[in-house]
Amino acid sequence: MRLKMILGMAIVLLSVAGCSDKKGAFIQENVDFAGSQLEKALDAIPEDGRLPRSIRKNGELGTVGPYDWTSGFFPGSLWYLYELTGNEQWRTTAERTTKWLEPIQYYTDNHDVGFMLSCSYGNGLRLTNNADYKQVLINGAESLCTRYSDVTRSIKSWNGGGTKDGKRWQFPVIIDNMMNLDLLFEASRLSGNDKYRKIAITHAEQTMKNHFREDYSSYHVVDYDTLTGAVRGRYTHQGYSHESAWARGQAWGLYGFTLCYRETGDERFLQYAEAIASYVLNHPNMPEDLVPLWDYHINDPAYVPSWLEKLPKLEKPWRDASAAAVTASALLELSQLSKKNGTVYWEAAEQILFSLSSHYKANPEKIPFFVLDHSVGNIPSHSEIDVPINYADYYFLEALARYKRMNN
Ligand code: GLY
Repeated sequence: MRLKMILGMAIVLLSVAGCSDKKGAFIQENVDFAGSQLEKALDAIPEDGRLPRSIRKNGELGTVGPYDWTSGFFPGSLWYLYELTGNEQWRTTAERTTKWLEPIQYYTDNHDVGFMLSCSYGNGLRLTNNADYKQVLINGAESLCTRYSDVTRSIKSWNGGGTKDGKRWQFPVIIDNMMNLDLLFEASRLSGNDKYRKIAITHAEQTMKNHFREDYSSYHVVDYDTLTGAVRGRYTHQGYSHESAWARGQAWGLYGFTLCYRETGDERFLQYAEAIASYVLNHPNMPEDLVPLWDYHINDPAYVPSWLEKLPKLEKPWRDASAAAVTASALLELSQLSKKNGTVYWEAAEQILFSLSSHYKANPEKIPFFVLDHSVGNIPSHSEIDVPINYADYYFLEALARYKRMNN
């Protein structure tokens, strides 16, 4: 019922957008804006090797080194600007910043090498066929596989850690990890070694089995016993409470199972991607503009977390533009793969792109370095609340590039 209403809105927007000229103008306007914002970010990078991540409380550009999990998104956004404009200036800057991530191919300390290398080197290889990039991606997949266990049948996400109420984890696996599987599929294609692909498939199967509730919402973290492989507990670390549905987590799952279906043709992965899409698009707390609240259950009395009193101003219903951007990009891909709901996904993705472009863009007077504003990083840790974040920009540009390709 709700979805019908949303799609009605999208159709109205489409008829406003009208023909492909209007869509072309929409894409161009967003690409021009992104170009002018990211150019200022490039000028503001204080030294080689530092990459834009977000905005500090004093309004200055917040940067990170190559070992931060978000380091690949800025070079990746530059690659998408190159793809979207054909302008060699973007290729030069993308090549320069991609190189800063070279040491990550040997990084084994967390699972994020997939995000880091696929966005930077992966896009670089796709767009330039630079042979040097191939080995970096294969080495990165090898590093990621050092975190795989035959006992848990999963790749370990974080090194230990635990819940806010004091439980320690042995082998935490987060739903975000589905995003890192793209690197493994790519590495098998590039190397001819099936090992990476097999690990990706096993990890996805185990995630399907253990991360999901009956309604196809997912937990953020599943902790495994390293000796037996049994599930020790299920949690939601960056969302509202353990049983709630953290918005970006649902988006990572949607994107991850879509890519697994693209790579394998295994119908089980398609079924999960479609079930997650249905969960988010039909959720009663999904706003009409399809830019979700940072968690689908905030302020629902049935989900109040025990540590709520420690969160200031939680009553504010912050949106998460990053979750919306990831969802839009995933839905565009899923629209081409689904046998029955392609139009629904396509129109929902269009609606999200129009919403982000109309109401979530960064104000260049206040925020000169990013495309989108109004994302959240980690509210329970009081970090990055209602700010621009590099991964929102990356997936927005990826979605625009997909939208342009698909319209053509
Ligand atoms: N992968 C970490 C996050 O989504 O915040």
